[in-house]
Amino acid sequence: MCGILGFTAKRDVVPLLLESLRRLEYRGYDSAGIAVINAKSHLERQRTVGKVSALAEALAKQPLSGHAGIGHTRWATHGIPHQDNAHPHMSNDSLALVHNGIIENYEILREALISQGYQFTSETDSEVVAHLLHHHLTQTTDFLSALQLTLKALHGAYALAILDKNQNGQLWAVRKGSPLVIGLAKTENFISSDQLALLALTQQFIYLEEGDIACISATDYRIYDSAGTPVTRPIHHSLATSELTERGAYRHFMLKEIHEQASVLQNSLASVLEPNQFRPLPFGLAVERLLTAAKRIAIIACGTSYHAGLVAKYWLESIAKIPCQVEIASEYRYRDPVVDHDTLFISLSQSGETADTLACLRLAKTLAYLGSLAICNVAESSLVRESDAAILTYAGPEIGVASTKAFLTQLSTLLTLSLYKAKLQQLPSPSVIDVLHLPRLIEQLLTLDSAIQKLAKKLVHKHSVLYLGRNTEYPIALEGALKLKELSYIHAEAYPAGELKHGPLALVDEHMPVIFLAADNALFDKVKSNIQEVKARGGEVIILTNHQGPWNMDAEIILLPAAKAFLSPFVFTIPLQLLAYHVAVLKGTDVDQPRNLAKSVTVE
Ligand code: M6R
Repeated sequence: MCGILGFTAKRDVVPLLLESLRRLEYRGYDSAGIAVINAKSHLERQRTVGKVSALAEALAKQPLSGHAGIGHTRWATHGIPHQDNAHPHMSNDSLALVHNGIIENYEILREALISQGYQFTSETDSEVVAHLLHHHLTQTTDFLSALQLTLKALHGAYALAILDKNQNGQLWAVRKGSPLVIGLAKTENFISSDQLALLALTQQFIYLEEGDIACISATDYRIYDSAGTPVTRPIHHSLATSELTERGAYRHFMLKEIHEQASVLQNSLASVLEPNQFRPLPFGLAVERLLTAAKRIAIIACGTSYHAGLVAKYWLESIAKIPCQVEIASEYRYRDPVVDHDTLFISLSQSGETADTLACLRLAKTLAYLGSLAICNVAESSLVRESDAAILTYAGPEIGVASTKAFLTQLSTLLTLSLYKAKLQQLPSPSVIDVLHLPRLIEQLLTLDSAIQKLAKKLVHKHSVLYLGRNTEYPIALEGALKLKELSYIHAEAYPAGELKHGPLALVDEHMPVIFLAADNALFDKVKSNIQEVKARGGEVIILTNHQGPWNMDAEIILLPAAKAFLSPFVFTIPLQLLAYHVAVLKGTDVDQPRNLAKSVTVE
């Protein structure tokens, strides 16, 4: 969740660290800090509560400079957002480190270190690592040995970047359970928890493997595996550029990402479809083999990705006639799942680094699954690298914490996968030509922006909103409610419309807006009856519908473009994203970085 950086160069690294911290901020934004080794070979640091802009202001008043430095943006786990809890953490003015992850046994280590005379200045789990490493460095001059001894004592998942004033400007890094990448340039090298933060500096990357330790200087680097053996890891050339992570003329990244959806959908579809049909082996040989053999599917995910999985269940069952279960990763990992050997395990994730989803994949590999397939937006992610096969969703970098374009491309991937499974089974299925019209449909939906903006004005002062839908519109209602909650902090709940009478109807009164997703499909009349039930109890009814009418009903109705029933998840997603966005803008909340959240949930 936190973002970590380590830079070593022949120039001052502070402005570079600051710029990269800005790009990393979506990973956590309750405090930020930098430590450097200055010209007198002393360690100096600056830490501030709040966003990177606060750190930049503090550095403008009290500048730091140095050729080697580390940086951090924090998402608090242990200890409130406070300057003392902000990273880097130091030990005895000789070493400083930044940490992403959780040290689970920090309490016991902390007590032992206190009894040895170490003084703690924070409530964090991270500070123990600094003191423990310092302790081992008092026993040996070999940094690698001291670091290995330190790591041996730690339980949990972590990535570390370490700066020691006695290391002549070299930085050390460790990857165990949290991603870490090395960026290489001519006379400077970098460490980052996210390659997006380095794109303005380099396109050459090494992805560290689990358990790796790296040591970088401005002109060189060494990598050791978990046994301490020097290893060579491949260098990857990324085609991504830093422009991809820029907001451009848009007011928020989220708005930019909503508006990019027609074009990313086009890219995602073009990766598997030709103008009228599937490409040969559209998902690659490994996926083809797994999909052909699969008799059942288990989808595991969190948050928005879980909602995409729920939509896929309807598609896989109705189009490909294959049984499908969808599970929330944080629950699945602690159950005793019963697995049939012909079940394909699919993990679904934008980032590919979500701790619970990754833990499920690792669990799945010990169970009797046919194999594992990752559907993911990040090619170099742990999820992709650890799965038997992967399908990329091609949404491009998503910076807004609330997922939008990643969700839409997950949907399109899951839809084409369902259609392709039907083809492999020689089942009749909807035409891919309709699917290829989706980008055009998205463009049409985006033109509803001003109507949705007006609707947003009606919701901005509400305390609670209910979203109802049936069939694929139920998970889309869940997604709409999640978007409203995370962006505007308004309580929102979603239910299958048929569940209304089983409880949630008790919530309905004239203060409760109820948003119905009334899709033009076989269940339309049933949703209409549910609308009447809410109206009969004085509820404030808002209807999003692509049933072209006539509508003789006293209610707020937003008419959406007509589309084939199996495409309706796409139709309803866009207005709900826009609605949450506009409510948040009207409320003045932080759209791209909502309170308490972070983009990628890499800790449990
Ligand atoms: O990267 P992932 O898709 O695995 O992330 C899963 C969730 O953390 C994520 O979808 C989260 O719910 C978003 N904030 C939703 O907007």
